[in-house]
Amino acid sequence: MTEPRDERDLQGSGSNTRKVFIKTYGCQMNVYDSQRMGDALSKDGYEPTASMEDADLVLLNTCHIREKAAEKIYSELGRIRLLKAERAQRGKDLRVGIAGCVAQAEGAEIIERAPVVDLVIGPQTYHRLPDALARVARGERVVDTDYAVEDKFEHLPETEARQIRARGVTAFLTVQEGCDKFCTFCVVPYTRGSEVSRPMAQIVAEARQLAAAGVREITLLGQNVNAWSGETPGGVTVGLGGLLRTLAGIEGIARLRYTTSHPRDMDDDLIAAHAELRALMPYLHLPVQSGSDRILKAMNRRHKAADYLRLLDRIRHARPDIALSGDFIVGFPGETEADFMDTMRLIEAVSYASAYSFKYSPRPGTPGAEMDGHVDEAVKTERLERLQGLLRHQQGAFADSLVGRSIEVLVEKPGRHPGQIVGRSPFLQPVVLPASAGAVGDIVEARIASANPNSLMAEGAPPALAEAMPLRAIA
Ligand code: 5AD
Ligand code: SF4
Repeated sequence: MTEPRDERDLQGSGSNTRKVFIKTYGCQMNVYDSQRMGDALSKDGYEPTASMEDADLVLLNTCHIREKAAEKIYSELGRIRLLKAERAQRGKDLRVGIAGCVAQAEGAEIIERAPVVDLVIGPQTYHRLPDALARVARGERVVDTDYAVEDKFEHLPETEARQIRARGVTAFLTVQEGCDKFCTFCVVPYTRGSEVSRPMAQIVAEARQLAAAGVREITLLGQNVNAWSGETPGGVTVGLGGLLRTLAGIEGIARLRYTTSHPRDMDDDLIAAHAELRALMPYLHLPVQSGSDRILKAMNRRHKAADYLRLLDRIRHARPDIALSGDFIVGFPGETEADFMDTMRLIEAVSYASAYSFKYSPRPGTPGAEMDGHVDEAVKTERLERLQGLLRHQQGAFADSLVGRSIEVLVEKPGRHPGQIVGRSPFLQPVVLPASAGAVGDIVEARIASANPNSLMAEGAPPALAEAMPLRAIA
């Protein structure tokens, strides 16, 4: 729907184009949601801008997974308040919205605490953004956090081909939302609700649209992406393996990935898909969180360390070159030095190609926050340093193991220096190549000349700064 003309006249420079600045915090699911918000707003006459100072509307798409996430938002709002005041002096307006998991968790409290905020919108209601803004234009302060993920999937705005092209040759596609696992440290089941799978036909239609606009690699997203299930047009129920097989058949799609998975949902068919599908990249993010059975139980992970290791054996059997990644939490309540050493031993046993690790931070409303035996901050810091030292070493060793080998690289964008282009290895590492190697969207064969833990240099590439490792979703 379009907003009344007088709303437009209130805004910006007097031209009909209004500008939106969206700042994204947290995981890839928020990146996807920010793009969908951009799409919904584009139909409503908003152009994206990379600068808050230029914007008529500022949206913060927030994350609530760890401590201080909400505090960060309030301090950002302090800055925005000054900007809004300065606009008001010039007789102009700036609209401010909070979206994402902090919006879902705190709702109306945000409006009370931060008068600068006009709109609070939860992760399942972005399709209602134009309506909500129309209400804001009529002087209301809007809180819209009622959630029904099915509705969201039903109403996801379509992305125009030119917008897909502007976003590049790799794309995210959300196929599942929510979580029923209730790990005792995690807020996700409360902020994103229970597990819902997006219907297969919608996913396939979106993937086709992405491919037609030139996308070569799709990463399927979900808080528990491997819990996805759906029905084929013939009425057969399939899991993520079946979905991947269908998507691999779409012309133009050369690479598929999915994130983030839970060990309990890694079924035989999905493992078999890793053996069968050339398009399915040999990289798997499979968080274990801890290597101690006692702590895994307290975390309600519902698997033991040995189950996880056996599962990895089966996956490696199906796809011997698979690069493994994970998430770790140190200092969960009750974690002793012996428990921590179990985690270190598990990491030694697996040998990760990359991993993410965090100090436990109590989240209000989760069972973990109420447990006894909270670990001293200094102990958490010290354990995290040891754990990250080991993971860094493994990541470096994995990168080094590729030196002298030829690997396929999907070219994504120009490099930071003249004469360079940057792509990604099958294992998700950024690879710097000489510009002559190929064009954006090509998959080229590159011989790796040198490596550092964060990026690879192909033979013939001019020297470069390291590229950062990518974001990833939650599980
Ligand atoms: N404290 C620390 N880390 C957490 N994570 C989730 N909740 C917490 C918390 N309360 C981590 C987990 C998860 C990743 C996305 O964030 O490792 O896999
Ligand atoms: Fe769900 Fe992952 Fe959070 Fe566990 S850590 S509750 S699996 S989102």
